[in-house]
Amino acid sequence: VSSPIASFDGQSGAFDGRAGLPEAACAAIAAAILDLGNLKPGDHLLECGAGTGQIGAWLAREAVSYVGFDLSEGMLDAFRSRLPAGSTATVVLCDGDGRWPAADGSVRVVFGARSFHLMSTEHVVDETCRVAAPDGAALIVGRVQRDRDGVAARMRRTLHQIMRARGFELRPGEAHAGQLLDACVARGATRLEDRVVASWTSAESPARSLRGWREKERVAGLHPPPAEKAAILDEVEAWARETFGALEPERASEDRFILQAVSIGAPRT
Ligand SMILES: C[S@@+](CC[C@H](N)C(=O)[O-])C[C@H]1O[C@@H](n2cnc3c(N)ncnc32)[C@H](O)[C@@H]1O
Repeated sequence: VSSPIASFDGQSGAFDGRAGLPEAACAAIAAAILDLGNLKPGDHLLECGAGTGQIGAWLAREAVSYVGFDLSEGMLDAFRSRLPAGSTATVVLCDGDGRWPAADGSVRVVFGARSFHLMSTEHVVDETCRVAAPDGAALIVGRVQRDRDGVAARMRRTLHQIMRARGFELRPGEAHAGQLLDACVARGATRLEDRVVASWTSAESPARSLRGWREKERVAGLHPPPAEKAAILDEVEAWARETFGALEPERASEDRFILQAVSIGAPRT
């Protein structure tokens, strides 16, 4: 079983092509984080599992003190190449399951997109509470919500069904975000309303989904042995042929990016 570091180091080059977000969406997401977190110039913002910095590079342009960390040097190299010369943003190698790079009580906004499910939930809650500014902070979780009836969402549901039938335990991203935020509420935080902050049209096809999964070491966040991974994807492919006919034709789908959050400590004005 390979580690998550190897897994993301290996895909840093291809990540934006496979899972990248449109630039306009990234700019809108960054603006919405500033608004939701009520960030003022100089406030500290910590991004966990920042990856190639698609969103982080937009946050780093704002008048906030930005620190982004990630477990993969390959992803961080791609992030650094996005930052303009002279940027004051800090981008560091750090395991989210260890101590986060922030002093106690110093952070206004802890943000993670598509990353917290790769860390221990209990540890994320502990570290968030440790670094949160006592006079008001927020934990913000971002994720892509695909069109439920779109090809990619149907392919993903089928992949999960096939993996569950083979005994894999899966925790979908949406269920994970809910658990993380509920755990914060149990520690005294207040749940804020979910916000849809960007939407875009993407082209999807069964072949594209299958290619993405074949390229990655992980599928559905897990590492099945290679022979079993191939067998799982063959089953998904057989289902797709029966359901969609040809695998290559693309269909348009409306995707959205949502932010889910809690406020911690005193509400800020
Ligand atoms: C799916 S990518 C998302 C990247 C970025 N947040 C985005 O939305 O484009 C997940 C990222 O989490 C990082 N990651 C996984 N486990 C981690 C951990 N334990 N600590 C820090 N980063 C981690 C990976 O290296 C990868 O860059």
